Amino acid sequence: MARPTKSYVCQQCGSVQPKWSGRCDDCGAWNALVEEVSEIGAGGALERSGGAPGRRIELIALDGPLKPIDRLESGIGELDRVTGGGLVPGSALLIGGDPGIGKSTLLLQAAAALATQVRCIYISGEEAVDQLRMRADRLGVRTAPVGLASATSVRDIAATLESDGPVDVVVVDSVQTLFLDALESAPGTVAQVRASSQALITLAKRRGFVIFLVGHVTKEGMIAGPRVLEHMVDTVLYFEGERGHQFRILRAVKNRFGPTDEIGVFEMTDAGLKEVVNPSALFLAERERNVPGSAVFAGIEGTRPVLVEIQALIAPSSFATPRRAVVGWDSGRLAMILAVLEARCGLVLGAVDVFLNVAGGLRISEPAADLAVAAALVSAATGRPLDAGTVVFGEVGLGGEVRAVARAGVRLKEAAKLGFASAIVPGRRVGAEGRDLTLTEISHLAELVALVRADTGAAPSRRRTERV
Ligand code: TYD
Ligand code: MG
Repeated sequence: MARPTKSYVCQQCGSVQPKWSGRCDDCGAWNALVEEVSEIGAGGALERSGGAPGRRIELIALDGPLKPIDRLESGIGELDRVTGGGLVPGSALLIGGDPGIGKSTLLLQAAAALATQVRCIYISGEEAVDQLRMRADRLGVRTAPVGLASATSVRDIAATLESDGPVDVVVVDSVQTLFLDALESAPGTVAQVRASSQALITLAKRRGFVIFLVGHVTKEGMIAGPRVLEHMVDTVLYFEGERGHQFRILRAVKNRFGPTDEIGVFEMTDAGLKEVVNPSALFLAERERNVPGSAVFAGIEGTRPVLVEIQALIAPSSFATPRRAVVGWDSGRLAMILAVLEARCGLVLGAVDVFLNVAGGLRISEPAADLAVAAALVSAATGRPLDAGTVVFGEVGLGGEVRAVARAGVRLKEAAKLGFASAIVPGRRVGAEGRDLTLTEISHLAELVALVRADTGAAPSRRRTERV
């Protein structure tokens, strides 16, 4: 038998070191190494353990019979969309997010909805049963037949799940509170989080129930027990949003049973989370019209078109190195767009502070937002507002060329649905269907600058337009 050995795991980056030291060799973090008991891993373990030879594993063909996945729909449409159409029995899902963003609320609502069809257990290590009941009361799900427990000992939880008859869905809130007595380290350390989660996931796979693990995100933006949980589970969901805003976005960042680009949009209300069926209308609700530095981007999130306002602010800098601050978009791409505007369009932005914000707390990763970002920047720089009834999309290359993006038709259709009258789009657009929008096609960023400078977006007849 392999002898258990001690190793030291960095709480910051998760690297494993044979010896304790004050500073992690990999990431340089101080005081981050914590002891962990482990079996001897790879590298000589086979030889060292001696003993009986391994059993031969039977190899099978790739094209064998395919079992259709029986998914369990929670009835919360936005959650089902993000998980790829429902929960897969025996799968493990990790829900990460900032403390207070609404993870417990979402999962209690999901458990209550699921409990009408299957057996659900909700185990909280963070709240007492009374608190959970109060929350359920507030959410209007007091009568849902969910089995509640307040517990942190993995041994007790496992024993309960083993002996308590069949169960279909288990929520464990949160992994940071779990405690496995085989380890000396405190709850919340990488070692505890990893070992406790592994024990529960193994149990879920064996007994065939769905397990939801809640994980708080640390200041560094990683689920504590850095990354180590992400590969253990089948699905990783992030619950995001600004705490001051009511919007919450559920995003799949890994999914073995579905796509990873879908988002679910919720609104936090007095009575819990409400699904937002039409996110565009919500994201644009507080938009101020006719202010410089605002552009509406027609984006795609997963299979859905989502319209969102991009705001830019440009102010004289009092620093030697001007500030560039971005919320909701990639700062590297902002730098690129600024450089292209400077180098290819002659817009001087070197000595000003630039702030960019995606309104509503959404995070955009599509390159198709380039043109909308550029439009917001040009509008802010020139002090000329864009036409409030115009949407913008298109990718920008380093030469300043505007490139076509996928699913233009879907974007335009959504814009038309929300009452937009015109769109600034790439010159060679693909798949644009007949919509009642006036299109201004541009093939170079300089045309956009000229367009914003020339007029404030009033008369479309002055542009090279086309009725579709
Ligand atoms: P919670 O689900 O406890 O967050 P997490 O589990 O991610 O830490 O959400 C807590 C926040 O949500 C808290 O600030 C109060 C707010 N909230 C509402 O606004 N309405 C509600 O109905 C509930 C239950 C919570
Ligand atoms: Mg919570």
